[in-house]
Formats: sequence, structure tokens, C-alpha cells
Amino acid sequence: MRFEGFAVVLLAGALTSYYVYSPVPSEVEEKWKLVLTDCFFRTLSHLADFSEVLGLKDYMGVMMFITFVEGVVPVSDERVLVSEEQFDGVEVVVYQPAQQDASVELRRAVIYFHGGGWCLGSTRMGPYDQLARKLVTELNAVVVSVEYRLAPAHHFPVQFEDAYHVVKHFLQNSVLSQYYVDPGRVAVSGDSAGGNLAAAVAQQLQQDPDQKVQLKAQALLYPVLQALDLNTPSYQQNQHMPILPRTLMVRFWSEYFTSDKRLFHAMMANAHNSPESATLLKFVNWSAFLPESFRQAYNYTAPPVVENESSGPSSSPQRSMADPRASPLLVPDSVLRSLPKAYVLTCEYDVLRDDGLMYVTRLRSAGVEVTHQHYPGGFHGALMFTMWPSDFEIAHRMTENYIRWLQLNL
Ligand SMILES: *[C@@H]1O[C@H](CO)[C@@H](O)[C@H](O)[C@H]1NC(C)=O
Ligand SMILES: *[C@@H]1O[C@H](CO)[C@@H](O)[C@H](O)[C@H]1NC(C)=O
Ligand SMILES: *[C@@H]1O[C@H](CO)[C@@H](O)[C@H](O)[C@H]1NC(C)=O
Repeated sequence: MRFEGFAVVLLAGALTSYYVYSPVPSEVEEKWKLVLTDCFFRTLSHLADFSEVLGLKDYMGVMMFITFVEGVVPVSDERVLVSEEQFDGVEVVVYQPAQQDASVELRRAVIYFHGGGWCLGSTRMGPYDQLARKLVTELNAVVVSVEYRLAPAHHFPVQFEDAYHVVKHFLQNSVLSQYYVDPGRVAVSGDSAGGNLAAAVAQQLQQDPDQKVQLKAQALLYPVLQALDLNTPSYQQNQHMPILPRTLMVRFWSEYFTSDKRLFHAMMANAHNSPESATLLKFVNWSAFLPESFRQAYNYTAPPVVENESSGPSSSPQRSMADPRASPLLVPDSVLRSLPKAYVLTCEYDVLRDDGLMYVTRLRSAGVEVTHQHYPGGFHGALMFTMWPSDFEIAHRMTENYIRWLQLNL
């Protein structure tokens, strides 16, 4: 009985999602391929919703299907040596050049954090595996791909701490020399939530008085950088955009902090700021930090501040929200000043566009060298679509530009 109900609901979900209006503007590159790709994501999201309502499996549990569909077993080949290891108790996949010509020159290294809203994704997905191999062969680099733990099983700061522990472990001289890595040529990088972890790690490392080896660079690919204002012009403009609609991003944020649904609803209404986070709103003020062309006709209103009464979100997520390890945009300029040079990629059709743009403005005015690459026809997650049947030209262009920057700057 229960199973039959589920089957009917599955079918209904699949059918409805096909007919859901998809407002993809014609400026988006390869628009129709994206609309079709999005059908898959929407269908899965509807199924996940139904499944949660029926109490079969929680939303993120169903969404993990995306991760499994693209799952691979990373193996060595003639050019790349792959090993699965533990760095300070955290799982990592290490990709190294197979040619052990270490006597010639020490190597660069990239520590990479995958995306997926702190809830989904894995280093062991085709696109991440492929990207890591490309970084190894084109940069003669060692790539450490980090399998940090995910929500809802683990909430903030577990994801951040896993990321931080890996970087601290790798940046010991004894470990670096084991992989023939030049201590002066290590970068952190990541896409989406992975860009969030990379940015947060770079900040915390600079403030760690015991840290000797520092990073040379940070490369942030359409990163998530702040949880305080979920109504920036890009959130408004792109709220129904494929791959990452606003609801899904809000869901990721709230799940990062807690599985208490009250936070999700408060964040949907952008009414989740407590007196504690309110003092930090000045760091995410888009009317001050967005270039005028991106402010467009949107009028700035500061998010309302809600007192934490019993119906509101509990106080622990409110503390997390004000924590720069979750929202790297929340640090004062004095912390930004000493950061390693940065590459920031943003896409026009992405709710997170303005997070990236604000960070670019703030880093530059603090004197940090920033290369900003904006894709006017780009959409969130584009870099992942390098494989059949959803192989986008823009993904290859993004990968090439990103690797070229690392070639010149790492
Ligand atoms: C945001 O910036 C604008 C313009 O710089 C300023 O007028 C406004 O007071 C700021 N608001 C907050 C909450 O920081
Ligand atoms: C912003 O304010 C102006 C002037 O009050 C108004 O004309 C415009 O429609 C507003 N824009 C939006 C997006 O609400
Ligand atoms: C409300 O927030 C304040 C400041 O963040 C905190 O000190 C207080 O303990 C919170 N109260 C409750 C009931 O959560």
C-alpha cells in the first residue's frame, strides 16, 4: 500500500516537473540543453520533497542520488598516481604526477573542496575526478581532494573543521616534502560550497599564530560567502534559475546549521538575522559593495532583525550565522588585508553572483590582488557539466581559464 502510494507520487512528481515553467533567459549559453538538464534536477527535487513528506527518506538523502549517478572509483593511470588517504582523520583522495621526477623541480599543490551545499557531492564524482587529473597534468601539481563530512548527518562547523584539518596537516614541511611539494606554491580552491570552505580556510590560516607555511593563492569558483542577506539582487533575479534556485540554496544554508525547519522558513523570508548578526550586516551591504551595473533597479533594504523568541530559530544557529568560518564575508578589512591573492569566478545567472562580487570589491579595497572572471552567459554549477549527456561548452572554457590563472599565479 505504502509502496504503491510512493510509486504514484514518483510518477506525478516526474510529470509535473516536466511542465513546470522554466524561466531561463535567452542570454544563458546553450539554453535548451540547460532546460533539459534542469528537468532532471527538478524532478529529483520534487521526488525528494514527496519522499520527505511521506517520511520515506529525508530530502538530502534523495538528492544524494546526483552524487551516486556520477560516482567513480578514482584509479591511477599512466599519467596520474591516485591514492586514498587520511589526513588528520579526514578522508582525502591524492592525485600526483605519475612521473616521479622530483629531482628536477618541486611541485605545486592544489587542495580542492568539492561543491554541493555542504550536503551533497563527493570527491569521487566524475567531474571532480576529471578536474583533478587535469590540474595534475597541466600544472604538474599534487591535488588533494577533500572528502569532508556532510549535512544533515553533520552540521557546521564539522565541514569547515574537516577542511581546516586537512590543510593544516598538508602544510607541514614533512608532509609537503613527502609529496615533493614546494611550500611556497600551495593553493586552496573549490566551487560553490567548496569555494566557501576554501575562502574560510584561507582566512583562518592567516590568523593562526602557529602556522608557518602559508598559502600562495586561493581560487574561488562561484563561491557561497554569506548567510545574512539572502535577498541580494542576484538572489532576486535568479530565484528560479536552473541547478540552484533560491529555495535550494536556502535549504543548503539552513541544513548547514541545523535540521530545525524553523530556520529554513526564517531564511526563506530573509528574516533570520538576530541582534548578534545584525551588527555584521555592514559587511554584506550590497548597496555599498556591488558595482552599479549589478545593482540595477533593485533598492537596498537591510534585512530585518528578529529577536530570538521561542518560535524563532534556536540560538546556536544564530551564533553560527555570525561566524566568519561559515560566512567569510563577515570579517573586517584588517583580516582581508593579509590574504593570499585570489581568483574569483562569478556567473550572471546565479543566486551567488553577488556574494562573489562583494568579496571581489572588499578584497580589492583591502589591497589584495584579485583576478575576477565574470561569465555573462554563465549559470551556477556550469563547471561540472563537462560530460555527456550534459556537456556544455562554457564548462570547458571555465576550466581552461581557471587552470591558466593557476599556471600564471601558483
Ligand atoms: C548600506 O550602504 C548604504 C550606502 O553605502 C548606506 O546608506 C546604508 O546605511 C548601509 N546600510 C547598512 C545596514 O549597512
Ligand atoms: C526602486 O525604487 C524606485 C524609486 O522609488 C522605483 O521606481 C523602482 O521601481 C524600485 N525598484 C524595484 C525593483 O522595486
Ligand atoms: C538571544 O540572543 C542573544 C544574543 O545573541 C543571546 O545572548 C540569548 O541567549 C538568546 N536568547 C535565547 C532565548 O535564545
